[in-house]
Amino acid sequence: MRSIEILMSEHRIIERALSLLELAVTRIERGEDVPLEVLNKLLEFFQIFADKCYHGKEENVLFPLLEQRGIPREGGPIGVMLYEHDLGRGYIREMRESLEVFNKPIEAKDKFKNNALSYISLLRDHIYKEDNILFKMALMVLTRDDDEELLREFEEIEKKMGAGVHEQLIKNLDNIENILR
Ligand SMILES: [Fe+2]
Repeated sequence: MRSIEILMSEHRIIERALSLLELAVTRIERGEDVPLEVLNKLLEFFQIFADKCYHGKEENVLFPLLEQRGIPREGGPIGVMLYEHDLGRGYIREMRESLEVFNKPIEAKDKFKNNALSYISLLRDHIYKEDNILFKMALMVLTRDDDEELLREFEEIEKKMGAGVHEQLIKNLDNIENILR
């Protein structure tokens, strides 16, 4: 099903960004300088690509449709996924806050590091569950027409993000990779 394939391929891009965040944390731990610009760009990626766009597709389009097809929200996998999206937003907020005072108190670096590590493990585990549990359930309940509908709605979300935003954010990851490696 094309719509689920798209979501899974975007998971691979998010995982790439998580590895870059992990690399940035390792460099900070070693006491090396990581340009603030790089950390800001990584957070921008997670806020826009992962949260606003990707989680937008799930929360506004896929999950409501799965509920209509009988997969429960409360006490079921969708509720767990929504809860984890919120947890992730909390970690991003904390990382943002710590970046604002990054070079002043030493605790700011620790706060960034701890929230980054929590975010990385949360999202990797979350992606694993979606790929291997929720999306497998989706493939069993969604129809061909549902797939078409999802593709149309995903297209709308991409359009609302603005022309070229998606590509630009992926290009930023290439730049970050060059700086960090
Ligand atoms: Fe998700």
